[in-house]
Amino acid sequence: MIETIYATLAKIGYHHPLHPPLTHLPVGLISGAFVFAFVAWLFRRPNLGQSARHCIILALIAVPPTVVLGFMDWQHRLGGAELFPVMMKLILAGILLVLLIAAINFGRRAKPHSIGLVAVYGLCLLIVVGSGYFGGELVYGGKAPKGEETEGLAEEGAMVFNQNCAACHFSDRTDTKVGPGMKGIFARDKFPVSGWPASEESFRKQLKTPYARMPAFAHLPEEKVAALSAYLKTL
Ligand code: HEC
Repeated sequence: MIETIYATLAKIGYHHPLHPPLTHLPVGLISGAFVFAFVAWLFRRPNLGQSARHCIILALIAVPPTVVLGFMDWQHRLGGAELFPVMMKLILAGILLVLLIAAINFGRRAKPHSIGLVAVYGLCLLIVVGSGYFGGELVYGGKAPKGEETEGLAEEGAMVFNQNCAACHFSDRTDTKVGPGMKGIFARDKFPVSGWPASEESFRKQLKTPYARMPAFAHLPEEKVAALSAYLKTL
């Protein structure tokens, strides 16, 4: 079902993950709620407190679809691998939902410009920032390549690797993270898990139709695959 959705989107030219564009809704609304509530408290303006409340209600509506799309991206791009940042994001999403519902209930009884509301909305904002941090960890968490070792195509490949592969593969070690470490991957005779010959052909086969548990990367355009291959050969 999930794969059909991504396949359909790919047909109309959309290859991006779905979660990042939508995250801006809850992030913006919760930041807005906090700022409105803070100014309402500072200048004793109950009407601004009302604006904060409206933002937080809209945020509660925006969070569930954002979580669902995040879950879909996780299944599609990371094969549902149980990575630490993903687990943290799931836990934070649960806490955020409970906190938003509590904030809305609390807001029914509290004065719209009370300091209590500033605190609760501030807590929601902290959770959102935390979730964004772990999202960044997933996308940019890989180690930055060392300048002199990688040039041109390989340097671009290092970026592609960090965004797509580093969540599951070490680049500077041979031991397993989720999949085998990529250090010297092309320098040996065989790939470690599949036992396929360590060749360009096997590498491309692994990306299109992986040996076992790795998610497929058939959507990666040729330039990126070439860059990745150039980079992995430098390791
Ligand atoms: C969700 C985790 C995950 C991601 C993301 C991932 N891999 Fe893998 N990779 C694996 C696993 C697990 C294996 C072990 C073989 C298998 O299950 O297909 C593997 C194996 C490999 C192998 C060796 C195949 C073998 O037979 O030993 C190569 C090369 C490889 N991956 C490259 C990549 C590249 C390049 C990317 C990024 C475009 C990537 N992987 C992204 C999990 C992942």
